[in-house]
Formats: sequence, C-alpha cells, structure tokens
Amino acid sequence: MPSDLQPEIFFKPSNQSAPARPEQNLLQAAQAAGVGLEAPCGGKGLCGKCRVRPEGEATDPTPGEKALLGTRLADGLRLACQCAMPAGGQVHVPPESRRGEAVILTSGRSEGLELDPAITSHELSLAVPSLEAPEAARERLFAALAQARGQEPGQGFDLPMGLLRALPGLLASGGGRLSAALRHGREVVDLRPAGASPALGLAVDLGTTTMVAYLCDLSDGQLLAVSAAMNPQAPWGADVISRISACQSDPQALGDMSRAVVESLNQLARDACAQAGAEAERILECVMVGNSAMHHIFLKLDPASLAQAPYAPLARRPVELKARELGLELAPEAWLHWLPLKAGFVGADIVAAALAVGADQIQEPTLLLDLGTNGEMVLAARGRMLACSTAAGPALEGGHIGQGMRGAPGAVERARLAKGGLPLELSVIEGLPPVGFCGSGLVSMLSCLLEAGALGESGSFDHERAGEHLRQGDRGPEYVAAPAEHTGHGQELVLSAADVAELQLAKAAIRAGAQVLMEQMGVDKLERVLLAGAFGNYLDPAEARRLGMFPEVAVEAIEGVGNAAGVGAVMALLSLRQRRRAMDLSEAMRYVELSGHPLFNDLFVDSMPFQNV
Ligand code: FES
Repeated sequence: MPSDLQPEIFFKPSNQSAPARPEQNLLQAAQAAGVGLEAPCGGKGLCGKCRVRPEGEATDPTPGEKALLGTRLADGLRLACQCAMPAGGQVHVPPESRRGEAVILTSGRSEGLELDPAITSHELSLAVPSLEAPEAARERLFAALAQARGQEPGQGFDLPMGLLRALPGLLASGGGRLSAALRHGREVVDLRPAGASPALGLAVDLGTTTMVAYLCDLSDGQLLAVSAAMNPQAPWGADVISRISACQSDPQALGDMSRAVVESLNQLARDACAQAGAEAERILECVMVGNSAMHHIFLKLDPASLAQAPYAPLARRPVELKARELGLELAPEAWLHWLPLKAGFVGADIVAAALAVGADQIQEPTLLLDLGTNGEMVLAARGRMLACSTAAGPALEGGHIGQGMRGAPGAVERARLAKGGLPLELSVIEGLPPVGFCGSGLVSMLSCLLEAGALGESGSFDHERAGEHLRQGDRGPEYVAAPAEHTGHGQELVLSAADVAELQLAKAAIRAGAQVLMEQMGVDKLERVLLAGAFGNYLDPAEARRLGMFPEVAVEAIEGVGNAAGVGAVMALLSLRQRRRAMDLSEAMRYVELSGHPLFNDLFVDSMPFQNV
C-alpha cells in the first residue's frame, strides 16, 4: 500500500511500484516502475492501447480519452498516458494492455555459402630477438603474420595500442607463440595465447518490435546460438514514425533509445554466448541489419530527414565503427558493420532479405514482401529489382484495431469455419482464453467471415448471414468472436466494421504498391510471392489470397521464408563475398517512391474490395 511519507503507485498484478509524481502520467509511472505497458503511439493518446484501471483518485478524463474509450470509461478503464494519480494508489493492468513477450521469429533458411569472413585467425610463432638481431616485438609479430599468410616480409599491418601493450605479456607466457586475429587481412583485432578458442561473430536483425542475434563460429561458419528479445524502444512508440517524432520532441530520446538497444544487445550477446559456452569478448565482428529508422537511432544519427520528403537517410552505404564506440561489450577491438540501406523506408533489413533469397539471380517475376507497419517489398525478375515501401499502417501488427494486439500469448492467431457455420473456432497463442487479435488472426477472421458470407467483398457485414453473431457497438456493427465468459479479460471479444476497414486499408496499400512495381517493370503476372518476417511467416497463403492482399498469384506460389533479414545478416557476417553482393544488390535495386506516384492512388482504390476466391 502507499506509504504515509511518499505516495506511490502500485501496479497489479505484477506488484511493481514507483513514486507518485504530480508531473507524471500513469504510463510514465509504469515505465519508471518497470511495468511493460502497451503504448504503440508512444503516449500521445492516439492508439487507445495503454488501458489501465486506476483504483484510487485519478485526474479527470480528457476529451480524447472519452472518444477512444467510449462506454469502457464507465467500466473504470482509463488511458495510462492521459491519466495521473498525484496522490498515489493502486492501478490494475488488464492482460490485453500488458506488454508480454511476443512470439519472435528466429528461424530462416539460407543456402550453403562459401566461408570467407572478414576475420581470419592465425597461430604464430615469433622469432626470438638476439643482440645480433634485436627486432622489435611488433615487427616480429608482423613478420610472423606475413609468413603465415604467404605474404612478402615487411608487409605492414595495423596494431591497436591496447594490443601492443598486451603483447609482451603474451610473448612471455607463451614462449613466443600466440594466436592473432586479423580483419580484412590488415588490422590485428585480437591477440590471445596460442590455441585460443575460435573467433566468434554476431549477426543482428534489429526490428522495430523485436531483435534477434545469431552467434556464429567464424572458423567454420557454424551457427552456435540464437537469442531474441523485444526491442526496448517500445515505450517511445510502436512504429518508426512515433520514435522519430519522439527524437524531435525530446532531445534526450535519441541517446536514450540508442542506449536501450545497446544494453539489450549486450544481454543478447551474453545469452547467446551462455548457450554456446563461449565468452562475449571472443566476438570480433558484428553485422547488423534493420530498417532505416532503427539504423539512425541505434547509431545516434538524427532521424528527422527520414520523416520529411524526400525521406533521404543521413547515410545509405555501409557504416563501420568500433563496437565499443556505442558501448557494445564485445571484444575491445571488435567492429560493427551495418549493411547498406536503400532509401528512407527501404532499409538494410530488406536488402539483407533480398540477399538471403538471392533476388539478384531470380528470373521469374517474384515479389519479396516484409510486412509490418511499413510493407517493404522488392519485385525481382531476370536480374532486375525494384523496391518500394508502402504505408500499410499498424493494422497488421494489431494496431488501430479495437481489440488488436501483437502476436503474444492470448492473441487469436487463427480462425476456422466450423462445419455448422458461425461462430468461428478460434486458435489462440499458448491456448489461453483470448484477449485480442494479432495480425494473422485478423486476416484469418476476415477470410473465414468472407467464406461464410457474413462479410461481403466490399467489407460490409451481411446482417442476415451473420445473424445473432452481429451486434451494434460503439464503432458500428461488430462480429462477436467470443462471449465475455470465454475471454481472458472478461469482456466480449469483437471485430468491428471499423477494424475491417483498417485491414482493408492495409491490404490495399500492399497490393497497390506491388502493382505499381509490376507496372513499372512491365510484369503482368507474379510467379512467386515470398513472405519474410514474423507476420508473413504466420500468414495462411490461402487466407491472404482470399482477402486479395497480393496481385493475382497461385496459392502454392506463396511461401514464407522465415526471418530472411536475419539470414542475410548471417551471410554477410560469414562471407565478404556476400557482403559485397549485398552492396551490389542495393546499388542495382531501383527505388520507386509511391507518394505522389501517378498510378498509386487509383490502384489503391481498386484494391480495397476483398477477393473471396
Ligand atoms: S493512447 Fe496511450 S499510449 Fe497510445
């Protein structure tokens, strides 16, 4: 309970607390207490997802809160970012507002590749100096390295001062024998006693929602461990636009967000090393991919230019720096290499995904899609590649959907039309009582409702076919997916006409974007659609096709390719040839800007109806 001296806010059921500060709203108090609360809009009062139930005196509801919560306000629900409790008290956080661990996609596929990493290791035996030949230790090291690499003696290398300082001790303890790691055949990045454990590399896919790290042995290319976590920047907003605007409104935000990811990445490296029985200080190279906003924010580059036409990034070609400059706790001389971006909204993640699927060698017209808040896509055919980014909006990640949520426990991930018709049978992540719909669940619900005839191709509910399962709600007609007694939050689980419209906007943006690329390339039929990323992987191809999410394509030609961006990052970590290929690929890819494109608006409008085939 709150103490007499310092009022506190207690969050239930996690029993975490923070001091009640008059200037802080409940979302800020939750962040201070370490309570994971959904806040997709970053606390701007726009998304309605930070719902909590204060049990004590709270400030009056704002007009925006009243509009977003409707009748739920009478049930005691409030928006944490719009409400404060200056005198402290208890706050209940309902299950749908808890930022649980999402189901993170860590797998992908890659074809065999030739091992050719930037780091090579060499076992050396240095000449013993004498009065006749009193050669300096560093030069003897360079001579041994040149010999080990079959190079002319006198070949120069770079040796950082920290390693030069460590050299005498290593030579004394090893009797002149030691193990050296070279980067690009030029810079000595590690010196160890002879026979040291192999050099390691880390490939990281830094997504807006999740981050995945792949630990590899650079001596044989083996994948040793994978670790994953939620992107800790969620309190600044769920999507890149919210995070960019957080940087614009708060000068501290850029550094804070970068630091949050660095800390999380250090933890991921430690976790992966613990799984593999290795030490993080053996990681000598880190290759990173992510969208352009993640790139800028992580590297502490002002992302403002990404949010304004012409959406030009601050740096497009690969960025390299010592990992320690950002606070990464890897080997002291480890390097970080970020693969190239293509444009403001076509990042290194889609470049890496294109590398993973070999887009530069694809002959038959193939669409590679990474679906999220932004649908990034590449159309590849006969060695040509066109890329664009379409503002699909947050619906596919459960945003702007009345009871939408990310793919976390309790989310409906699939629906099935039972033999007897409605109601639909629901499949829920971890088999819990449902509390909301994630993206794949929404697509599945709409597909089944279309199949049942309860939803028309225009996106309107058919009152006759939906019968008793339809009711009138705050946001228009609603399909009742589960009664209150069967849900995890004790309220009915509903899908409203407004939710259907949100998904229509998203799928129309994706389809129209793909069609613009097809028009531009002179392609009239797709032979394959490759779906990268979590959403694409969990999507049922037949359901996506029924919704008309892609231009016409056979169901068997729609294929999930797992975390292709992560696979591309691993390829670039293990092979310099693949790293160069990623660069060539990003140069060869042509970017098509959709805003203001003469075809996009008409195609977007034509893409709104569902297909129902
Ligand atoms: S409405 Fe509170 S975080 Fe979006």
